[in-house]
Amino acid sequence: MIWPEQILATYKQRTSKSYELHQRASDLLPLGVTSNFRYYEPYPVFIQRAGGSRMRDVDGNEYIDFSMNFGCQLVGHANPQILEAIRAQAEDGTLYCAPNEIETKVAAEICKRFRVEMVRFTNSGTESTSHVLRLARHYTKREKIIKFEGAFHGVQDALLVSTKPKLAQIGEEMHPNQIPSSFGIPPAVWQNTLIASFNNIESVKVRFRENPQQIAAVIIEPVMCNAGIITPEPGFLQALKDVCEENGALLIYDEVKTGLKIAPGGACEYYGVQPHLICLAKAIGGGLPLGAFAGTREVMQHVGDAGFYHAGTYNGNPLSLTAGLITLRDILTPEVYPRLYAMSKKLTDGYNAIIAATKLPAHAVHIGALGMIHLLPRPLRNYRDWLQINREQWKAYWFSMLNRGIIAHPPGHEEQWTISVAHTEKDIEAHLAAFEEVAAEMAKFMKQ
Ligand SMILES: Cc1ncc(COP(=O)(O)O)c(C=O)c1O
Repeated sequence: MIWPEQILATYKQRTSKSYELHQRASDLLPLGVTSNFRYYEPYPVFIQRAGGSRMRDVDGNEYIDFSMNFGCQLVGHANPQILEAIRAQAEDGTLYCAPNEIETKVAAEICKRFRVEMVRFTNSGTESTSHVLRLARHYTKREKIIKFEGAFHGVQDALLVSTKPKLAQIGEEMHPNQIPSSFGIPPAVWQNTLIASFNNIESVKVRFRENPQQIAAVIIEPVMCNAGIITPEPGFLQALKDVCEENGALLIYDEVKTGLKIAPGGACEYYGVQPHLICLAKAIGGGLPLGAFAGTREVMQHVGDAGFYHAGTYNGNPLSLTAGLITLRDILTPEVYPRLYAMSKKLTDGYNAIIAATKLPAHAVHIGALGMIHLLPRPLRNYRDWLQINREQWKAYWFSMLNRGIIAHPPGHEEQWTISVAHTEKDIEAHLAAFEEVAAEMAKFMKQ
């Protein structure tokens, strides 16, 4: 069998309507999509409907979905409780552009879970990380920030730096180069974004030494989830907080992905190291656009300073907030988590058993409801390890699963599966049955 051409041939056979729709869309939308992440070669699948743990495409193919809209859908697709609540809310108005009580209710849920004291709402992760940076710069009266190589924090200029730099560009692990991730970012912006290596506290200290009194904040995905699943080594987050405090800088967790998925209170709860500020989005909105940034009263109260700006026409819209409230208060209660973790573990264990049987040079990992296969035999410590994954092999895996009706995770070998409240044991078994076939093929392919 030729890889991945044979797989792509099957894909094309199954998805001819998607191809046609993509051709038409490409005339009007660059790449035929409205978010560059949604485009993949040869063309993406067009979705017709989603419900529970399932998606159906325009060609009538049914998928068991483990992508869950990049993890937004921890409540499952079209969750009935959310549908009922937003229908009722829509009757009372979809937008007020004025304060409303639901804001306070959702803020209280967030404060309880994430051990924070004050919250502001946004509409996305990008907005949350953008505003939090401005706040950190205002609070500290400093300009520079540190982010980690390979981490992704949304598409604003200041953080679109070294998200996926190429091996030839990256420089020393102790001193990674700053590589803008998009054309169109002025050097004056990306030069203020310093890069450190995940799980390497010395690389952070070097930046503080080189830039005394200049660094406003360190922003981190506490589990790096945009380069596989890379967990912080024991003591790393505490050391980071200590370094920040010794140097008068703020520690910011970007919990857009980890938020509700690794624990009800995200990484704040899971690791027990509390940052000064956090950013949230994705799962907190139950599938509607809802983001937030939050933190200590000491820092957050400065959002209200005369001369500081956080605003947005759609902020705190009652539809998203209603979905958020039902998500946080009624659906993702602490009692549902053990089941999600157990299914995520069952999938991971199943993968690893199949990997062992087929001798595939890979391993599967999970943390809470998130998990994935890394097509490398050893665990990952930082972005540089992830860079060694062969993208063609990953494509063979992902499309082969898709051809068998399983969306294993969002398109991209940095992405994870999300086990939602809508998934069942049968879904996990079907996923593993598909992987058993795919792994047997891949083991042959990867040995060549
Ligand atoms: C960790 C992290 N932060 C921020 C964002 C940006 O969120 P959004 O796409 O809602 O702007 C993402 C998106 O994937 C993310 O993974």
